[in-house]
Amino acid sequence: MRIRDPLGRKGNIVVGLDVGTTKICAVAAEVSTGKTDIIAIGSAPSTGLRKGVVINMESTVDSIKKAIKDAEAMAGIEIRSVYVGIAGGHIKGFESYGAVGIKGKEVKPQDVERAIDSASVVYVPLDREVLHVIPTEFILDGQDGIKDPVGMAGVRLEVKVHIVTGAVSSVQNLLKCCERAGVEVIDIVLEPIASAAAALTEDEKDRGAALVDIGGGTTDIAIYKDGSLRHTAVLALGGNHFTNDIGIGLRIPVQEAERIKKKYGCAITSVADEAEEMDVAGADKQVRKIQRRYIAEIIQPRCEELTELIKREIESSSGLEPGLSCVVLTGGASLLAGLDRLMEANMGLSVRIGMPEGIESSCASNSPLFQSNVNNPMYSTGVGLILHSTDGETVPNAFGINGDMVNGIFDRMKEWVRNLFGVNGNELRGKS
Ligand SMILES: Nc1ncnc2c1ncn2[C@@H]1O[C@H](COP(=O)(O)OP(=O)(O)OP(=O)(O)O)[C@@H](O)[C@H]1O
Ligand SMILES: [Mg+2]
Repeated sequence: MRIRDPLGRKGNIVVGLDVGTTKICAVAAEVSTGKTDIIAIGSAPSTGLRKGVVINMESTVDSIKKAIKDAEAMAGIEIRSVYVGIAGGHIKGFESYGAVGIKGKEVKPQDVERAIDSASVVYVPLDREVLHVIPTEFILDGQDGIKDPVGMAGVRLEVKVHIVTGAVSSVQNLLKCCERAGVEVIDIVLEPIASAAAALTEDEKDRGAALVDIGGGTTDIAIYKDGSLRHTAVLALGGNHFTNDIGIGLRIPVQEAERIKKKYGCAITSVADEAEEMDVAGADKQVRKIQRRYIAEIIQPRCEELTELIKREIESSSGLEPGLSCVVLTGGASLLAGLDRLMEANMGLSVRIGMPEGIESSCASNSPLFQSNVNNPMYSTGVGLILHSTDGETVPNAFGINGDMVNGIFDRMKEWVRNLFGVNGNELRGKS
């Protein structure tokens, strides 16, 4: 049954579901030609994930339900379907290459599809799924750097693609959680790709940029050059590690460490005023005075470790090519005071904090709280899921889709398997 939007909005309602390690959020937008208007955000604390992967289905389902319910209440609609983000250490990205001959004198969309199919014929272990096959560059009769070869004259079309795979079990558990929470998954999107859609500008993607989404449990990286995705990586290190370090260093409970980090935390000692002191409550409720500089001394080595890991990913992705022009930090932990400055000094690249961009500010709710909520790096993935998935195209309405979600996703995967390897996808389905 198709439910009509009771508010009679003209555009399609699209919902991005960010299943994060610290919070699960559902972002709803009204999407019409060239315009994305955020109409609601529902959020719930997340306790069922570790390092970006579901480890407790029950609590994850409860958090998804709550986030969806909050978004429904704010938007005044019933949400049936979502675009969901995926991350975690199980995600792997690699390059592949394919080539085909052009039958006519002009490249047709079917030739592009055949070239991408040929690049996708790679060995993928049975316990892994292909999540994305993203063309990064086309080469026509030796001429490289082509973004869209359709309509061009040539006889040999080559393509370089970036393939992203994830562990079948992690993908399935995420899908099952959504299904049990009563929402259908239209598509799964790698979280850093979604965050990049919200926080990177087209100019940055062209000149070369690394999107670094520092969340609670993971740091997700997407590297762009010449307007195309070149490299993706997920590091099992995030803001929760800063909190744990403070908790251990000051011998205080995690909740107090989290409060202290957000209010007084800083990544470099030079940011902290030596005279500045704050009250810290121990497990026994005893309050003592601590210098802010001491907090920076505790966190700085962890921030340097994270910077080094990001730097290595950037170096490994660029190979012999010239470096990137900038690094854009997003995700909640990017708000740690001085982290951008520390990374800029240690990486030798310009670093900025990226907020969700490319959305209309005319929200259904005009409350200052709602406005400031969207304008926060924590919501880059949620907003980016919508921007990446719609990308100016017509997409299904979030409140008008029916059917068995897991079957839908597996039908898509079976189709890939059939196309790529000529194998019956039922073998894959049987393992679910
Ligand atoms: N003002 C702040 N200063 C420092 N850290 C902050 C601040 N606000 C939020 N954080 C940290 O950001 C992290 C949460 O970020 P985010 O909401 O992007 O994570 P997530 O999407 O739930 O997790 P993940 O992407 O790792 O699965 C937490 O570690 C939190 O402590
Ligand atoms: Mg996140």
